[in-house]
Amino acid sequence: MSVSNDLAAVGIDAISVYVPRLYVDLSAEWARVRAPEQGTDAATLTQKLTKGIGVRRMAIPDAHEDSATMAAMAAKRLIDGLALNLANIGYLVVGTETTVDQSKSIGAYVLGMLSRHYGMSLSHVGCPQIQFACIGTTYALEAAAALVRSGQLRGRSALVIATDIARYPKGDPGECTQGAGAVAMHISAAPRLLELDGLHWPSITVDERDFFRPNWSSEAVVDGQYSVDVYLDCLDRTLRASLEQHRPETAGRLLESQHFLFHTPFPRMAEHAAARLYRRLRALRGPHATLEPTASVREERTRDREVAKSDDFQAWFAKHCAPALRHISDVGNTYSGALYLSFASLVDGLGAAGRGGRVTFFSYGSGASAKLFTGSLASGGGDVLHVAEIAGVLADLDATGTVGRRRALSLAEYERLHDLHQQQSEARLEVAASVLPPRDEFALARFGTERSAQRVDVGYRYYDYVAAPRAVADVTPTARAEASLPEEAAWAQQ
Ligand code: CAA
Repeated sequence: MSVSNDLAAVGIDAISVYVPRLYVDLSAEWARVRAPEQGTDAATLTQKLTKGIGVRRMAIPDAHEDSATMAAMAAKRLIDGLALNLANIGYLVVGTETTVDQSKSIGAYVLGMLSRHYGMSLSHVGCPQIQFACIGTTYALEAAAALVRSGQLRGRSALVIATDIARYPKGDPGECTQGAGAVAMHISAAPRLLELDGLHWPSITVDERDFFRPNWSSEAVVDGQYSVDVYLDCLDRTLRASLEQHRPETAGRLLESQHFLFHTPFPRMAEHAAARLYRRLRALRGPHATLEPTASVREERTRDREVAKSDDFQAWFAKHCAPALRHISDVGNTYSGALYLSFASLVDGLGAAGRGGRVTFFSYGSGASAKLFTGSLASGGGDVLHVAEIAGVLADLDATGTVGRRRALSLAEYERLHDLHQQQSEARLEVAASVLPPRDEFALARFGTERSAQRVDVGYRYYDYVAAPRAVADVTPTARAEASLPEEAAWAQQ
């Protein structure tokens, strides 16, 4: 069935991914130490993680990284990969639930980094932050797409960036589902990657306590099993809302989709969601083309589990859902980026020649809100229009330390980095030592410490682009000024 758009074209023109260089290997020291704490052995815990939850590694930001630097890095990859002229960008919107400032938009920090790095003023760019747990980036994408489509940006395009650090307390059941990363997307009226379907995307929102983060904490509070139930209930609710508003179009688009992407805090969650959606699509395909009535939460999960075991579902899942999941187990949860990391994985895996077909996105944010929306992948074997290259982003450093980019953390290194964030306060305004000093990346350079008649900046985060690490002795005052290397940078003092 073909469905025509009733509005001007808009969509994702290109996408890029940034993942921190550090990670925890969940099958190594972490499992050996956590297993006895959880009353089990390392082999059983590893099996639970790989088979029951679907995770292998979790990306961890270094001491000089935060959600703003990751966002700027993802944007830089996109800008450099596309040779984008920033003068043609009219809007930069960031979806995050782990921002760096309780007041200022994280987008303004990112804009500042890009503006200084590329040596141009970007003061014409609207730059909000949108927060609603993991669905924030979808609301950001919706806003950016509407602005581009409306012509209000006067021919300019937009950047949408997702950036997040998933952090739970050590020893929490959610600890193994941590992760970090950022995804940047170029949104244009002539999208070369995915054209969004034209209808308004209905939202559903319910005031829930499944997952939240109190203002004083850098770690999320989550009621694990309940959060899974709320997620699946929101999938049902948004499916019903979408069908109620635009029944024939939505049903048509869902039934003809070749790819299904889900918010993926951990890969098995996507499988649970896929089983639920598969049951509903099966009902829609039935003679009465109607949704089956929902039962109790427990009964629904039982039916999902039965379906998930069937050969039909397994084959459908392997073909239509699994290709988007292949990198999540090596990164972990990226909250507002997780759905878009899945999308990048999908297009990266398909390659330019294999692209085409309709994509259904299910976006979910705890607390809780959800949306279903669809788009069409541009087909054809033209230029590579995405700059995802995820395999390169995730490649391990080799023994020489020159090829690849990722390296595993010891448990002690991980726990030090994990605890840093809980310790940040006005009494401790210094950037801690990095595990890997910044190189060719944006980095948190220092915190402001001044409260004088001339300047007040206590706690302000100063960022810089570090081309390569260098020893203090190598950096003359002139070279420091030329490189705009901050005097206080922790890595320069090591
Ligand atoms: N071998 C194979 N499988 C095993 C196993 C073993 N040795 N031991 C256990 N398993 C299986 C279990 O049977 C279970 O499978 P099913 O889901 O199919 O039932 C699975 O492993 C998980 O085991 P538990 O249910 O015992 O898991 P847990 O109590 O450790 O908690 C969790 C799992 C709830 C996901 C927890 O990791 C958590 O709280 N995560 C964070 C919250 C989260 O991500 N929620 C998702 C919805 S909310 C959301 O999506 C927003 C967001 O980004 C946070």
